[in-house]
Amino acid sequence: MSMNPPVPHDSSLDNSLTLLQEGYLFIGNRVDRYHSDIFEARLLGQKVICMSGAEAAKVFYDPERFQRNGAAPKRVQKSLFGEKAIQTMDGDVHIHRKLLFMSLMTPPQQKRLANLMMEQLQSSISKWAEADKIVLFHEAQNILCQVACKWAGVPLKDSEVVERAEDFSAMVDAFGAVGPRHWRGRRARGRAEEWIREVIEDVRSGKLETEKDSALFAIAFHNNLDGSKLDTQMAAVELINVLRPIVAIATFITFTALALKDHPELKEKLKSGESNDLEMFVQEVRRYYPFGPFLGARARKNFVWKTCEFKKGQLVLLDMYGTNHDSRVWDSPNEFRPERFKNWDGDLFNFIPQGGGDPAKTHRCPGEGITIEVMKTSLDFLVNKIEFEVPNQDLSFSLDRMPTLPESGFVMSSISRKI
Ligand code: HEM
Repeated sequence: MSMNPPVPHDSSLDNSLTLLQEGYLFIGNRVDRYHSDIFEARLLGQKVICMSGAEAAKVFYDPERFQRNGAAPKRVQKSLFGEKAIQTMDGDVHIHRKLLFMSLMTPPQQKRLANLMMEQLQSSISKWAEADKIVLFHEAQNILCQVACKWAGVPLKDSEVVERAEDFSAMVDAFGAVGPRHWRGRRARGRAEEWIREVIEDVRSGKLETEKDSALFAIAFHNNLDGSKLDTQMAAVELINVLRPIVAIATFITFTALALKDHPELKEKLKSGESNDLEMFVQEVRRYYPFGPFLGARARKNFVWKTCEFKKGQLVLLDMYGTNHDSRVWDSPNEFRPERFKNWDGDLFNFIPQGGGDPAKTHRCPGEGITIEVMKTSLDFLVNKIEFEVPNQDLSFSLDRMPTLPESGFVMSSISRKI
């Protein structure tokens, strides 16, 4: 006989509004209130199971129990992911598509991107030195857009950088939005898809030449399991699934700068530029600061877990933010302490800023290696390559706006090259 208590039901008629109001803390607040890792709520007119913690993540990533098809709302597909993209696939076709992404993100490819990033950061210093002040978030976005396109083999004129970067960013900014912010993301996606469809066509027709090891080449000439090629639209959506998230690393870079400002005592250790120290710092940035709030999947069959009855087709949300702040795993989770990563066991389910499980077998982000390398490069640059001041500004970030960011975008002034 099970001794587990019954699963709490949140009694609100519908939590859709509260979800938008409580944002990153919506699931965690109820996990604390009910003293339970799992509870039922009503969201968007349906019964939804919400869960948090490493054990829940392990169940959520079991492909026997959960599928992604039908989980992401159309509104998210039309802004953030693109329709019918890898995020919505299951089974063998998903694994096959995933291997395409994994093949683009090997350690040498991570290094190539990080080196391009350092070059581009270095060559921005003189322009920044002349400016009265700069907003790091915007600068990082533009630089990442240039670097992502160059790395992926996509031609991008200097005159296009700002607009394209804004479009990639608007797609990400739309994910927790209703109203104008959502529509801005959709229009941005429309423009980006039109642009990238043309690039795919040009490479296929031979009008545009690209390196064989580039993301553009790999996606344009990828074979589906049945031997067919991706249609132009699908190829564009998947190439955008590489470019857009690279630009989104700007959010983590901005939080990295905030962490440096708030914890100047940690800077000393980073001055040697030693890879392990840089890595622990950026891992703590990915754990501590909010970016991805939660993930959704649908039950593939009826099953019971922790006395909770999951019904086939039911929507289930996994709390990413709460899992990264779970005090059973993370001592004093609301303190910023890079050193904690010295003892972290590398568990696939207790640290999930970009999803959990094995990326080659589940939906976990294939871009973590890239993200970490680009963040380490940016941190090394901020600590060791430039001097700057941080003028008075509003650096607060809200936990109820998804995605969130320090209000000012991190303004820097009096920038000079370190000698
Ligand atoms: C800015 C930092 C990033 C964050 C916070 C992030 C976060 C995530 C999250 C939460 C998922 C979903 C995991 C799941 O559904 O279980 C995901 C999936 C994905 N990410 Fe990232 N990611 C980032 C960077 C990247 C980069 C740099 C790339 C590629 C260059 C990338 C490509 C993808 C792709 C293709 C998927 C879909 C994987 C699948 O469905 O199998 N991401 N990411």
